[in-house]
Amino acid sequence: MEKKSCMILALDVSDREEALKIAEDVSEFVDAVKVGYPLVLATGLGIIRELSEFAPIIADFKVADIPNTNRLICEQVFEAGADAVIVQGFTGRDSLDACIEVASEYGKDVFVVSEMSHPGGAEFLQPVGETIARMAAQAGAFGLVAPATRPERVKAIREIIGDKLTIISPGVGAQGGKASDVIAAGADWVIVGRSIYRADSPREAAREIAAEIEAGPNGE
Ligand code: XMP
Repeated sequence: MEKKSCMILALDVSDREEALKIAEDVSEFVDAVKVGYPLVLATGLGIIRELSEFAPIIADFKVADIPNTNRLICEQVFEAGADAVIVQGFTGRDSLDACIEVASEYGKDVFVVSEMSHPGGAEFLQPVGETIARMAAQAGAFGLVAPATRPERVKAIREIIGDKLTIISPGVGAQGGKASDVIAAGADWVIVGRSIYRADSPREAAREIAAEIEAGPNGE
């Protein structure tokens, strides 16, 4: 995944034509498209290959099962054409290892959720977020998912993992995070959904956020 705009589109729409149109319209301003259950359940797994025409695809299935099931899920995800998969870290090292093994067989990447961006993410996951981050680094994951709603947590996790892993960070816009703050805190990419796909002009919204990132937190 090449870093240009530092932005990933979360494409949580449920209509195939709309998804393809938005992806095409904003492709100039995003480095990847994240698809998850809303779009895939509505349109089928084939949407991954269709969208991959416009950008690398991150499959956000938050894989969270026993190692054998994780392996079977990841095989389907990569056979479908995804470039990376998001998995949960709380299921433990063996479950994560199964995902990383499959990803390396396909030459693809695994992102591990260390802590989630919504208020409830602070209840159970946050206290173990740093432990999960360390485990992900030891296991050889490609990256972590850390909350744009709490830039101070992104900073803390960056300090723990150093430059070893990339950090992608959801929670910008609709959930309250500011893109340039999160990049300044140590994220490599922000993930933006509703602020783009619900805008009157998704392309214009993506352009504005990309410009905000480029200008930095002080708008210089
Ligand atoms: P919005 O519309 O809030 O969309 O910009 C955010 C996207 O990111 C997903 N999301 C997360 N994924 N860990 C994750 O792995 C998180 O903490 C997290 N928070 C939000 C969300 O499902 C949507 O696709």
